[in-house]
Amino acid sequence: MDWNENFLRKSLTGKLIGHKLYYFSQTGSTNDDAYLLGVKGLPEGTVVLADSQTKGKGRMARVWHSPAGSNIYTSIVLRPNLQPAEAPQISIVAGVAVAELLERYCSGRVELKWPNDVLIAGKKICGILAQMKTAGEDVDFVVVGIGINVNVRPDQFPMEMRDIVMSLSSETGREINRHDLIISLYENFAKWYKKLLQNGFAAIKERWLELAPMIGHDVQIMFQNEKIIGQALDLADDGSLIILTAGNERLKVSAGDATILNKGLQPLVLPKV
Ligand code: BTN
Repeated sequence: MDWNENFLRKSLTGKLIGHKLYYFSQTGSTNDDAYLLGVKGLPEGTVVLADSQTKGKGRMARVWHSPAGSNIYTSIVLRPNLQPAEAPQISIVAGVAVAELLERYCSGRVELKWPNDVLIAGKKICGILAQMKTAGEDVDFVVVGIGINVNVRPDQFPMEMRDIVMSLSSETGREINRHDLIISLYENFAKWYKKLLQNGFAAIKERWLELAPMIGHDVQIMFQNEKIIGQALDLADDGSLIILTAGNERLKVSAGDATILNKGLQPLVLPKV
């Protein structure tokens, strides 16, 4: 079903997230659009939504596959009162909000993978890309971009991606109403974002850790040509993953792709620190 812009505008009136909606049937990247709106001074909660993207951006300069008529591609402009070093917390908020939302469709099947992929049955269903603009020492705005594979069919993905991606319709065996999904997404995001601003990061981190099975496991992190192996211990307040290497060194890893090395095994029970 196509997006019904009027219905969305009505449903989002007065909401923290989505009260200002920019809809495009096609755009380059909703993150680029939202960034320009942020520079122009648009208020917190402004959202960009597109039916398709020609230059969908992923992490580490990757392409986000963005065909028309099937998925969610949206970017939210936020103006949080946070230090720039804390801004990655927004991306963690988005991961928790999406994972909780998808749990409603397939309970017990959704997991988070550091830095912030949402997976079902080990395959990627959602990617999150946050970008920040600073003003002096402060955050001017953050754009959080969210792409969710909703009704896309496996054969719409390039061959080499078919084994690693998932969509909500493939998982549930039915077509999903994108309007319900996006309205709930903005609502759930608002709920966790308010918690972050009012009570700090602790509750968000706790929920993230519950949804992220890699904690306690040995993981491999690839960043460009570098490989780091260690036990995933914790999520730091700046969104980094804290790992313990074989040489007993605690490292904070801030970027890369993580894989669990001993997935079949029970994670070690980590003492609370
Ligand atoms: C990742 O690599 O996992 C992040 C993917 C983020 C994709 C979304 S789709 C909406 C927004 N616009 C973009 O160009 N990227 C993000």
